[in-house]
Amino acid sequence: MILRGIIPTTPLPSLRLKLKPTRNVTASSSQTTVSKFSISDQELESRGFILRRTISDLDINHLNSVFVAVGFPRRDPDKIRVALENTSSLLWIEYEKTRRPVAFARATGDDVFNAIVWDVVVDPSYQGMGLGKAVMERLIDELLEKGVCNIALYSEPRVLGFYRPLGFVADPGGIRGMVYSRKSKNKKL
Ligand SMILES: CC(C)(COP(=O)(O)OP(=O)(O)OC[C@H]1O[C@@H](n2cnc3c(N)ncnc32)[C@H](O)[C@@H]1OP(=O)(O)O)[C@@H](O)C(=O)NCCC(=O)NCCS
Repeated sequence: MILRGIIPTTPLPSLRLKLKPTRNVTASSSQTTVSKFSISDQELESRGFILRRTISDLDINHLNSVFVAVGFPRRDPDKIRVALENTSSLLWIEYEKTRRPVAFARATGDDVFNAIVWDVVVDPSYQGMGLGKAVMERLIDELLEKGVCNIALYSEPRVLGFYRPLGFVADPGGIRGMVYSRKSKNKKL
């Protein structure tokens, strides 16, 4: 099922936080910052979760292990690296204690009109804490900041409920996703 993101005219909805709910306000000695996300970067950091936006510190084999742990097929690490190098919007969360990636999401596209979100995963040991939402909110925000207004993704039926509150709707305006399938093409030959 393909989902398309709605273009919010207001900031992303402020969502309840499972990583110990707090108000999305970060106070420092000189100023108070209100985060537009359900959990601020500072709150994540205070719990040992570091946001990363490049792959320079990312261990591809560790990421592959997270993919496999959630049921994705294990993929060639060299191909994953190339795919990530060709990905313009990417976000992952490192757990400070283990230095391992625990949450990940990326989007490919033209950086102007269209983007497709891929590989949204949270390590099973860290699921249900708000990390999936934390990476998705930021990925969407980054795309909208770039002016990209058509954001799509493929969703497993069991995760529709995760994407909907983030602004995604299934089959908007009756549009159905179609994927090229070699198998079905060969059947017709
Ligand atoms: C889907 C996934 C990324 C969610 O990450 P997560 O960190 O566990 O989710 P969060 O804790 O950030 O949850 C955010 C919200 O979504 C809800 N949610 C999470 N998973 C959900 C699901 N499968 N169905 C419905 N709601 C879900 C949570 O209850 C929470 O709701 P709240 O904001 O009202 O409290 C994670 O479960 C995962 O990696 N799953 C396996 C891989 C996968 O299926 N990826 C998507 C491929 S299409």
